[in-house]
Amino acid sequence: EHPKVCFTVDGEAVTVRGALDRRLVDILREDCGHTGVKRGCDIGRCGACMVLVDGAATNACLLMAFQADGTAITTPAGLDAMPAAQIVREALVEEVAFQCGYCAPGFVMSLTALFLRDEAPAREAILTALEGNICRCTGYHSILRGAERAAR
Ligand code: FES
Repeated sequence: EHPKVCFTVDGEAVTVRGALDRRLVDILREDCGHTGVKRGCDIGRCGACMVLVDGAATNACLLMAFQADGTAITTPAGLDAMPAAQIVREALVEEVAFQCGYCAPGFVMSLTALFLRDEAPAREAILTALEGNICRCTGYHSILRGAERAAR
């Protein structure tokens, strides 16, 4: 029998058999159809692939299947059920935070992880939470305004 790992994705049980060194980003997008998880740099720099692993923002391109065993994973679609994510999303929309939007799921994920720990984070905490997210369009000002709006 092939080795296997089990985890949940947005509350649904997923079993991966065989090549357990496959990356979570590929499993989520290709096997599970969660294309809200974006692939950008593939080397842990851009943050487009950010998911929550047991509530912590994590680059899905850096996590191998075997490392996800037993965890609860949340994708951008899974954020629909989380009030903290709604606050973040609405504040970002109000500040027209994004242009092309490709990086947006990753930014929302990183900020949601922050707001799950701290409902009113200071600017310094926001900057730290977003260290792993790159945006090529906005110069970050509108995103920071959105994050600070969410913190009010
Ligand atoms: Fe994972 Fe860029 S694709 S950090």
